[in-house]
Amino acid sequence: MRHIWEQGADPSAPTLVLFHGTGGTERDLIPLAKRLSPGASVLSVRGNVLENGMPRFFRRLAEGVFDLEDLAFRTEETYDFLNDAAARYGADRSRFVAVGYSNGANIAGSMLFRYKDAFRGAILHHPMVPQRGLTLPDLTGTPVFIGAGTNDPICPPAETAELETLLAGAGADVAVHWEQRGHQLTATEADAAAAWFRSKLAL
Ligand code: MLT
Repeated sequence: MRHIWEQGADPSAPTLVLFHGTGGTERDLIPLAKRLSPGASVLSVRGNVLENGMPRFFRRLAEGVFDLEDLAFRTEETYDFLNDAAARYGADRSRFVAVGYSNGANIAGSMLFRYKDAFRGAILHHPMVPQRGLTLPDLTGTPVFIGAGTNDPICPPAETAELETLLAGAGADVAVHWEQRGHQLTATEADAAAAWFRSKLAL
C-alpha cells in the first residue's frame, strides 16, 4: 500500500498508524500525529480503493452503506500490510496505535473488530460501527478514544453509543469525547485526543 514511514526520534513512543478520510491522502493526518506525539514514528497509509478518484480504505454502496465483502478483504489486506511494514522498518508491531478519521477510523475500527492484536490503542475520529453481527476479539485493556459530534449526520450519536457499547463489551477501555459539531475534526477534538493519548499511551 502507498504510505509514508517517518522514523521518530523518541524510541519509547508508540508508532502512530494514520488512516485518512475519504478523498484524503497519507499526508493529511501528519500534523495531527505531531500534535499527539512529536517524537513518535509515523506510518501513514493511503487507502487502496478509489471512489470517483477519491482514495478510501474500502468500497461503499452508498453513503454509510458499506460493501461488507470488500470491507473484510481490505481489512485483511491492511492488517497484512501493517505486519509487513513493521518487519520492513524494524518497528515494534505490538506498539502500533491507530489514528483514523471518518473512513480511516472505520477501517481501523474494522481491524479492532476482527483482530485481538491489531493495535495497542486507537484514536477514532468520527467512526461508525464498521459491521454488525461480528463477535469481537478480547480487547481487554485496549484504550480507545472516540471523537464524536452531536450533530454528525454521517455518524449519529446513537451509532457512537452503539460502537462504544460493542468495544467496551469486548473489554476495551473506551473514552468518548463529544463536540457540539458535525462530522468535522475540530482543533478542540484533536486537543482532547492528545490529552487522552498522554494519559493512556505515552510512557
Ligand atoms: C465511510 O464511508 O467510511 C463513512 O461514510 C465515512 C466517510 O464518509 O468516509
